[in-house]
Amino acid sequence: MTYETILTEQKGRVLLITLNRPKALNALNTQLSHELIDALTKADDDDGVGCIVITGSQKAFAAGADIKEMQNQSYMDMHGTDFFGQWDKVATLRKPTIAAVSGYALGGGCELAMMCDFILCSDSARFGQPEIKLGVMPGMGGSQRLTRLIGQAKAMEMCFTGRMMDAEEAERAGLVSRVIPADDLLDEALKTADTIANMALPALMSIRDAIRRTQEMPLTEGVRFERRVFHALFATDDQKEGMAAFVEKREPQFTHK
Ligand code: CAA
Repeated sequence: MTYETILTEQKGRVLLITLNRPKALNALNTQLSHELIDALTKADDDDGVGCIVITGSQKAFAAGADIKEMQNQSYMDMHGTDFFGQWDKVATLRKPTIAAVSGYALGGGCELAMMCDFILCSDSARFGQPEIKLGVMPGMGGSQRLTRLIGQAKAMEMCFTGRMMDAEEAERAGLVSRVIPADDLLDEALKTADTIANMALPALMSIRDAIRRTQEMPLTEGVRFERRVFHALFATDDQKEGMAAFVEKREPQFTHK
């Protein structure tokens, strides 16, 4: 598949995906969603990729789902095609995924960022769920993920008013892991991704699975799940290598197996 709305670049074990519809502030139309999901799915299956970074432009990570594409749709156009249903795939990826956000991350843009494992943002970032101003509501998981990440009070206020949250508030609220000066964001995101990509992949995938389950499991079940997966990591080469390297006072050479 050749891509027209995204750019992909592999840097070592990191795949960088740049949303690339600058004239529409990276609005997420159907073509972009198919191309992005295709690239993500291939990266997930590629042994040479250990971490994925999704970014946009300085002005916009993504200004939402494409309003012009949706404007004249009927209920059955949306419901009959399960419009946005394809995005569920992003949350089922197994490799670590980082959103590097500068500028606007609105509506579906904020929702795409929240589907990633964590968000690094620049001081120019603005997060919001402005669908209410269009007479609709979040439809790519925003009402659910935003509430889990920042709590009901802020989520309700943001979704009721469409107010944008700046980077400082987003960090305070727990929406992003770190705020970085705009000029350094991509380098820092790639550096972080490179660190992650060179860790033991079986352990990374297990950590991701366990942390994501906190949203769906009661604590006792989650702790039991964690313990079972922790035990399973003792069947991996990387556990043998990681512990041997510590004892031998050297850096581990993980094979991601
Ligand atoms: N869909 C389609 N086109 C969009 C778009 C979107 N979400 N956001 C921006 N664009 C287009 C504009 O129409 C404009 O195109 P033209 O030059 O052809 O007119 C171009 O991008 C530049 O945008 P602006 O001129 O508006 O730029 P600005 O700097 O004045 O404003 C902005 C920037 C505040 C982000 C403004 O563009 C804006 O409010 N965009 C819409 C944000 C929004 O409502 N997002 C939610 C969409 S619905 C959704 O996402 C549903 C869901 O849950 C998944």
